[in-house]
Amino acid sequence: MLVLGLESSCDETSAALLKDNEVIANTIYTQAVHSEYGGVVPEIASRTHIKKIDRLCLSVLEKNGYGPEDLDLIAVTDRPGLAGALLVGISFALGMHTTYKTPIIGVNHLEGHISSVLIENQDLSFPFLSLVVSGGHTAIYKVTDFGQYECIGTTIDDAAGEAFDKIGKMIGFPYPAGRAIEEEANKYAGNDCINFPVARLKTDGIDFSFSGLKTAVKYHLQENAENYLEENRPLLCYSFQQAVIKSFVSNMQRAVEETGINKITLVGGVACNSTIRKALSDKFGGNVFYPSPILCTDNAAMIAKAGLENYSRGERRFPSMSPTGSFKL
Ligand code: KG4
Ligand code: ZN
Repeated sequence: MLVLGLESSCDETSAALLKDNEVIANTIYTQAVHSEYGGVVPEIASRTHIKKIDRLCLSVLEKNGYGPEDLDLIAVTDRPGLAGALLVGISFALGMHTTYKTPIIGVNHLEGHISSVLIENQDLSFPFLSLVVSGGHTAIYKVTDFGQYECIGTTIDDAAGEAFDKIGKMIGFPYPAGRAIEEEANKYAGNDCINFPVARLKTDGIDFSFSGLKTAVKYHLQENAENYLEENRPLLCYSFQQAVIKSFVSNMQRAVEETGINKITLVGGVACNSTIRKALSDKFGGNVFYPSPILCTDNAAMIAKAGLENYSRGERRFPSMSPTGSFKL
C-alpha cells in the first residue's frame, strides 16, 4: 500500500510517502519568510503553499521511482488550520484524486500528531495518554484506539509553543523561538532558578494556562535594569522552560492518576525539546514515547500514517475543509 501524505495547515508545506507502514520520503518546506513578521501571516502562507506544493509532491514521487498513478491512497490534512493554507493542500489532493481516481481521505492534523509516535514505535499498544504540544495546541488525550480520543485537558489560553514563541519575541529571538530558547537555556550552568508561576487551575479537566507565565516574564524584565537581559538570557530561558516543564509534569501526573494509564506519548513541535523529553522520562521512566524531531514538527508522514490507519479500518472521510474543526471524538 503506497500512501501520499499532504500537509499544508500552517507554515510547513510537506509531502510524504508511506509504503506498507514505512516512511520512504518526508519532505518538509518550512516557510522561513514568516520570521520577518514575528508570526505566521495567513495570506503569505497560502501563496507560498501554492508555489511549493506541486514540485514538492512530484519530486517525492519521482525520487522514489513512482508516479501519481502508483498511489493507493492520498491522505490530506483538512482540519484544523488556516483556511487558505488548508485549501491549497486539499485542492491539490482533489485534483490528483479526480485525475488518477486515487482514493482520498481527510485527516485531522491533531490525529496526525498523535499518530506520529506510532511510526517508529509500531509495538506501542493502546491505551496511552498523548500530550500534544505545538504552536497551536496544548492538550492531553486519552487514546484507546485509532480514532478513539478523549480530551481530558487543554490550555485555557496560549498553547505551549505559542508561549515559547512569545517569550522569544520579548527577548529578541526570531519566530519560531522554541529551539533558540532551548539552546539558550542549555547555556545556563547555575543552580538558581527564577521562580515563575505555574498556573493551578480549578477546572473539571486537567487544564493548562501559559498566559500568566508570559506576563510574569514580561514584568520580570520590566522590573530589572536594561542590561539585565543581556547578562541573564540563559537564566531567563532556563527558568521559563522549567516552569513549562513543571506544568507538563504535574498535569501528566494527574492524568495518570485519574485514568490509571501510565503510558505517555509526547508529540507536536514542542516535543523536539530534549530537556522536556528528559524531564518526562525522569518522572515516568520507560513509559514515555516520543517521535524523532522530524516527526514532531508539522510533517506529512504523520498525516499519511493517520490516513492509512483510518482507511484500513474502513473510515472514508472525504476531505471537507474545516479551519476550526474540532477534534472529533
Ligand atoms: O507542531 P508544530 O510544527 O506546528 C503546530 O502545529 O503548531 O509546532 C511548532 C511549535 C513552535 O511554537 C515552535 O517554537 C515549537 O513548536 N518548537 C519548540 C522546539 N522546537 C519547536 N518548542 C520548544 N523547544 C523546541 N526545541
Ligand atoms: Zn502541528
